Amino acid sequence: MLCGIDFGTRNTAIVKGQRRVVGSDNSTVPSFVAYSRTGLPRRIGNAAKVLLDNPGEFADWDVRRSFKLQLPESDGSPNCIATSVTADFLGDVLRLQSAGPTPVTGAVMAIPVAWPSAARRALRVAAGRAGIDLKGFVSESTAAFAWYRTQFGELKEVAVFDWGAGTLDISVLRIRGGSHGTASIEELHCASSDSAGDVVDGLLAQRIHKELQRMDHALPPWTEIDRDEQTRLCHQAEWVKIALSDSTIVSMPISLNKYCGKPRVVTISSKEFEDVIRTVIEGALDVLFAALLRAGTSAPRLDAVLVVGGCSKLRGFGGLMREQFGSRLAISPDSEWAVAEGAQQIAEAGDGCYACVQEFCLVLSDGLALPLTAPRAPFDGRSTTHVVGKIDSANVASLVFGERAQGTSGDPRTIGGLAIPSQGLPGEPIEVSATLDPDLFLRIRAGTLLGNDRDVRTFEYPSTRFEYHL
Ligand SMILES: Nc1ncnc2c1ncn2[C@@H]1O[C@H](COP(=O)(O)OP(=O)(O)OP(=O)(O)O)[C@@H](O)[C@H]1O
Ligand SMILES: [Mg+2]
Repeated sequence: MLCGIDFGTRNTAIVKGQRRVVGSDNSTVPSFVAYSRTGLPRRIGNAAKVLLDNPGEFADWDVRRSFKLQLPESDGSPNCIATSVTADFLGDVLRLQSAGPTPVTGAVMAIPVAWPSAARRALRVAAGRAGIDLKGFVSESTAAFAWYRTQFGELKEVAVFDWGAGTLDISVLRIRGGSHGTASIEELHCASSDSAGDVVDGLLAQRIHKELQRMDHALPPWTEIDRDEQTRLCHQAEWVKIALSDSTIVSMPISLNKYCGKPRVVTISSKEFEDVIRTVIEGALDVLFAALLRAGTSAPRLDAVLVVGGCSKLRGFGGLMREQFGSRLAISPDSEWAVAEGAQQIAEAGDGCYACVQEFCLVLSDGLALPLTAPRAPFDGRSTTHVVGKIDSANVASLVFGERAQGTSGDPRTIGGLAIPSQGLPGEPIEVSATLDPDLFLRIRAGTLLGNDRDVRTFEYPSTRFEYHL
């Protein structure tokens, strides 16, 4: 059975066939893993997250969170902590009861637009260790587009507004051909802001603290509160935020078993809540408009704005966006599932792939460029191989690699090179193989064809540019 995976910093959505893999509270699974220091079985999701709220139990556990953010620094080796925690997490999510018994045969994983190649590689290693055969990556915004596209006719330019726990990410997609974007998609990631769900939780926690201070003047200011105590209040604030984002709720009582040494009760009204979130919501719209400018477009020119991510359910946000974009707005009550379901659809269709919009070449000594990759080549891991003759009698052959934008002529821009040990014979054959790796980087291997011990050198280039073919 095929899966679509949206591995999030804070929550992970996995769709397996028609099933949503949910945690104990019937929603996406919090990206938390807890390792016991006393030999108990590992916990994931809410079972791991609640340990942070329980100081008594917490000391016996090592709780890992936000490990997705460490993947870009990962070396992808099995010893890398972020990779192994991710592997444990993904494997355990797929063993949850809601995942059902059918084995996973393959998956498409959604990743942030322009995510570094090291992170992609580490995620692939982690998925492999979790028993997931990764068919490919798709960007979160293209997966969102795949999910929403049937709601519209032809779309040429859309913005994807992904508002999660840790970040607000805005991408502009330019779509060419096909009534439902079946040709190519150029992805531009044009803004990332930290003003997202976690920030709202922090602001609301401070507001709750202020209310408590009004009732108990002995309470110290927020900045003097112990970090763990602050974190626990932020977790409470998240529940309050979710409850008060339901437009039918007018106030929410909060009962704290123990806060700064005492049990406490306080009520926050929807009006107070709206005061807290107003600036965050207005700020998010400012980020959107600035991002559109940066992408060389503007709100009136967009054919659609596709909204994903749990934070977009914030009270009042949908209404404000509707005022701006009218029927061009797509915002679903299931916004936290959109990316995973889009990735699952791409996995089922089996047709999504990235194609490179650069052409890579070997720059020869006479200045001519020998193409190493074909125009619009897919990232399929296949190699193209050339044999070139060495020109001088030095015992090192110097190779220079260049890139050109698709369909342009003129001198290629140098991107790097390799020094290949050789026998030192003029005309000596050097074999050069280029591969566009499924993790979206270029790899060139080269070595002399003479001699017994083949010393092959490798050059890797992560800055590929591509479009998505859907
Ligand atoms: N009904 C709701 N009302 C308001 N906020 C909500 C609601 N449901 C979820 N959220 C918030 O949405 C955020 C989680 O969104 P999401 O699952 O899209 O994050 P993520 O993908 O893990 O994060 P990121 O994209 O930053 O890596 C949290 O801050 C959560 O509190
Ligand atoms: Mg997300």
